[in-house]
Amino acid sequence: MAARAVVVVAAGSGTRLGLGTAKAFVPVAGERMLVRALRTVLSLAEPTLVVVVAPADRMDECRALVADVAGAASGYTTVVPGGADRHASVQAGLAVLPDSVETVLVHDAARCLTPASQFERVFAAVGSGADAVEGGVGVVPALPVTDTVKRVAGDVVVETVDRSALVGVQTPQGFPLAALRRAYAVAEQAETDDAGVFQAAGGVVRTVPGDADAFKVTTRWDLGRAEAVVAERAGVRSIDPRVDVRVGLGVDVHAFDPDVPCRVGMLDFPGEPGLSGHSDGDAVAHAVCDALLSAGGLGDIGGRFGTSDPRFAGASGDVFVRGAVELLRDAGLEPVRVTVQVIGNRPRIGARRDEMQDALAAAVGAPVAVSGTTTDGLGFTGRGEGLAAIATALVRSR
Ligand code: CTP
Ligand code: MG
Repeated sequence: MAARAVVVVAAGSGTRLGLGTAKAFVPVAGERMLVRALRTVLSLAEPTLVVVVAPADRMDECRALVADVAGAASGYTTVVPGGADRHASVQAGLAVLPDSVETVLVHDAARCLTPASQFERVFAAVGSGADAVEGGVGVVPALPVTDTVKRVAGDVVVETVDRSALVGVQTPQGFPLAALRRAYAVAEQAETDDAGVFQAAGGVVRTVPGDADAFKVTTRWDLGRAEAVVAERAGVRSIDPRVDVRVGLGVDVHAFDPDVPCRVGMLDFPGEPGLSGHSDGDAVAHAVCDALLSAGGLGDIGGRFGTSDPRFAGASGDVFVRGAVELLRDAGLEPVRVTVQVIGNRPRIGARRDEMQDALAAAVGAPVAVSGTTTDGLGFTGRGEGLAAIATALVRSR
């Protein structure tokens, strides 16, 4: 049997989160906090017993969840019902551990993104403290306090507290099992963490470095932060604030002319009425061009390429789009993404959307999303007099 164990307390009701469900069962980016916490615990290299302290009214659900996450390691897991407060829940977890366990870590399921390395750090520090101090040491992961801290009486500030002597502590907190059990047995008041109980009973507690990702999900804001951390780990990065990012908008309209070929979104539509214009009348390509230019603050297609310039008579849309990309490059910018919506009755773009996206993306040098809509029979597009397109472009500094 394993000589080490982790008690995961997950029996709280999550009042401050206010979702009306036990916090450990609330999903973070689609996966319940308890599942996330357990997966980390079960990934530890050495064999480790895992006791999950669950809400008393959700025992069956919790057993199924634990069995599912643990798979072949299910034999190392136990689920027990929790108590009225965290103190009571920890005691319930400690009670079912076999005496052969030497070291126990107590962990909040609500700190569901705590990295495995933090568990290993705490286990190692408890182990090395065993020889140094009679009865062993307790170990808490801690981070320096970064805010200025004040002592207050009501809303009156009494004094600034020297923050160099303060740390914020996290879980898992680790202890020699026998000593922690003794501490809980003699505890006279409920503490908010296990190190408090251990210390109140005369134990020595040391710190090891904590990890910013081991924060406790307490409020809705924390839930958003947890989602952001998961997205970041998955490689879905938010835009780096040091990068200059700009947005552009472009709109273009051309009237139908049945006597010219139809070119829309850089594709030919044989048999469809074409669009009139000095160039090929490709309103979609022109809207994309204008969106790119506007994102760079580079003016518009008429001003840059000249609506009557003979060099552009009959020019195809990609001449303008590639021209805009070149002007952006000269300005130290590059396209990140473009979206364009085609507004009109014909041609129908649905069946050729992928083709159009590919053709536009090849000219833009970044992904292009194409959508289409009609205007429900209203206006010039509804009457079939012309085609409109509206585009947005995101560009960034190179
Ligand atoms: N916990 C527990 N049993 C309780 C109370 C809390 O097992 N009776 C656990 C929680 O599930 C959580 C950890 O202790 O993983 C930290 O508690 P906290 O963040 O306070 O969670 P809740 O008590 O659920 O939240 P709240 O205080 O907002 O109701
Ligand atoms: Mg609580």
